[in-house]
Amino acid sequence: MLRLSDRLEGLSSSLTLDMTARANALKKKGIEIVNFAAGEPDFPTPPFIRQATVRALEEGFTRYTPSTGIPELKEAIVDKFKRDNQISYTPSQIVVSCGAKHSLYNLLQVLCNKGDEVLFGSPYWVSYPELVRLAGGIPVMAPTEANHSFRLTRKEIERHWTPKTKVLILNSPANPTGSVYDKKELEEIADLALLRNLFVISDEIYEKLIFDGKKHYAIASFGKEIMERTATVNGVSKAYAMTGFRIGYCGAPLEIAEAVGKLQSHSTSNPTSLSQKAALAALTGDQSDVTQMAREFEKRRDRLYNGLKDLQGLKPIRPEGAFYIFCDVSSFGLSSSELANRFLDEARVATIPGEGFGMEGYLRFSFATSQEKIDEGLRNIAQWVKQFDRH
Ligand SMILES: Cc1ncc(COP(=O)(O)O)c(C=O)c1O
Repeated sequence: MLRLSDRLEGLSSSLTLDMTARANALKKKGIEIVNFAAGEPDFPTPPFIRQATVRALEEGFTRYTPSTGIPELKEAIVDKFKRDNQISYTPSQIVVSCGAKHSLYNLLQVLCNKGDEVLFGSPYWVSYPELVRLAGGIPVMAPTEANHSFRLTRKEIERHWTPKTKVLILNSPANPTGSVYDKKELEEIADLALLRNLFVISDEIYEKLIFDGKKHYAIASFGKEIMERTATVNGVSKAYAMTGFRIGYCGAPLEIAEAVGKLQSHSTSNPTSLSQKAALAALTGDQSDVTQMAREFEKRRDRLYNGLKDLQGLKPIRPEGAFYIFCDVSSFGLSSSELANRFLDEARVATIPGEGFGMEGYLRFSFATSQEKIDEGLRNIAQWVKQFDRH
């Protein structure tokens, strides 16, 4: 039999995609499912962005582009970083890639040597450990506390630091917990990163989905020194409901950006030409759709959080951003996969088991679904919980 590369050994497929596939299979059979598993906004891409894509196509913008992105999009990203995050990058420090996931992949590939440790908080986004392993690095997960909204602290980073720690990944607002770091916490982490010579990858893909009047802080904005040791990753997927366009980007120190550009030139060549025009429209156009979507997400957050809180045995952690609620379900005495499967089969509700995020005993509920569907899902779970108690 053909032997696959050692790189692939032990690489797991995405648990979030597995659950979605199971839910879709049931739906195909005509079974009505409430989808709390979605990892993408359910809103349509705003019309002006779709129109810009069609225009680009009709104008014949269908050729290769510069590998790191078209100049006008890179300019728009420079402006975005300045306007929203108070970071001053030059266009040559920007690389546009095929989604923020691709930006993260590229960065880890250019930063990691075999055996380098990459530290991040647990629970974590499913892809971090695998992206690190693919780059030859060793993922180091630092546990976080539910009663601290799962935010990584300077102390926990220090506890898990070793002389081999090279990179720290931060994610605020976070998937799967919706936690948002405040300024002081990030400043403490920035200090430590400088002290320990860490390179920071700051994944800010959920920046625009933030609630309760909270403010997003970009760690690279805290001064020249930390900016020189940080790559800021963002994209259009979540803010503009553009997951299928596959456009993400990073701003990084010149040497890193050039290395990412070199790597990308030999892998994907360039991000899709049409999607780059769409992202340009998104970043330079009217931002009111973003505000509106964020407002609707906040209403849904309240509805789902309040509903889950009232159910016996479920302990949701209140998120301040993104579109997920991480919920303690350990009281049922089942593994998170078992419970997610039973919720799907018996309550017709799709969720993602915490196991994939490094956290047994939890389920991730996404509120990228309508308020009516949230109510229906809550009713189904309430019914299930009642019957479970009777066993
Ligand atoms: C924390 C986090 N980072 C990055 C991404 C990647 O987003 P994309 O590749 O669609 O830009 C996701 C998507 O689910 C995410 O949850």
